[in-house]
Amino acid sequence: MIMAETQFTPRVFSGIQPSGGLTLGNYLGAMKRFVQMQDAGSHETIFCMVDLHAITATLPDPATLRRNTRELCAGFLAIGIDPEKSILINQSQVPEHAQLAWIFNCIARMGWMGRMTQWKDKAGKNAEAASLGLFAYPALMAADILVYHATHVPVGEDQKQHIELTRDIAAKFNHDYGVDFFPIAEPVIEGAATRVMNLQDGTKKMSKSDPSDKTRINLTDTADEIAKKIRKAKTDPDPLPDALAGLDARPEARNLVNIYAALADIAPQAVLDSHAGALFGHFKMALADLAVEKLAPISGEMTRLMADPAEIDRILGRGAERARAITAPILDRTYDIVGMLKS
Ligand code: TRP
Repeated sequence: MIMAETQFTPRVFSGIQPSGGLTLGNYLGAMKRFVQMQDAGSHETIFCMVDLHAITATLPDPATLRRNTRELCAGFLAIGIDPEKSILINQSQVPEHAQLAWIFNCIARMGWMGRMTQWKDKAGKNAEAASLGLFAYPALMAADILVYHATHVPVGEDQKQHIELTRDIAAKFNHDYGVDFFPIAEPVIEGAATRVMNLQDGTKKMSKSDPSDKTRINLTDTADEIAKKIRKAKTDPDPLPDALAGLDARPEARNLVNIYAALADIAPQAVLDSHAGALFGHFKMALADLAVEKLAPISGEMTRLMADPAEIDRILGRGAERARAITAPILDRTYDIVGMLKS
């Protein structure tokens, strides 16, 4: 069956786990693009804190999970997600996500789920001890997307396989029930700094879970912390090259150039055009200034928002209401297609 994607309202959906500690990697890898998509106005935009996903690997302390969910919401707001222009929600507050996920648990095959690399990585050698929720994680993710009939999903490279699974689930549902109901959503993966690397080891991804705080920039870091971490970032003794090929086999150097480009909204080559021949000591000062200029206001705004959790809860309550105007009719039609009785 050929699906004409144009029959669906252009709609962007993406989600982030409230597992604590937003980094520059989250911001440049995904969140900055969310703001651009929101402001472009060509799509409806929906952004989600996926708290149901955040309990799949381990059970976080309940107070910590609540705090992390509010902090993630503060992060979305601080970087420029406007809760009027976009729909900003917390997953568990829109019950249709979990309801559709059950249907998808019955569409997806064990074999498909078992091939997910994230499952294999997280379950490790002891899959017997992993939760059923961790195994079903990608079906819930498919439900997050498809309960809005979303057509575009901006994600990092590591989530591409889950989007492919989402497409398989949509296609199998449509095929098995002989309908043309769920869209085949497109992943949107692009941008030079899609992968922001560890500041001390350019071959590893920047991660909030690395034991050393020097390896990352947190969105809550102060101006001084940001500048210091960039000044202390690992580099090599060679000057900046004049062409990108000169960054091959120099992962730390390449990472800093990519970070500069993403923060300044220019191409990595444009960074080299203006800094070729400079030593990293000098370049890092320019990068620290730029990073402080772009990031310090974000951390200031997050601190301000976190001081007023009731305001965050109000925004999420309103977001859930707006979301359910979309999700309730889609779930209702899904139940009809499947043959569930109506009360
Ligand atoms: N699995 C995604 C991640 O870890 C988070 C996520 C959950 C998501 N549901 C989603 C991303 C739906 C995009 C769309 O990054």
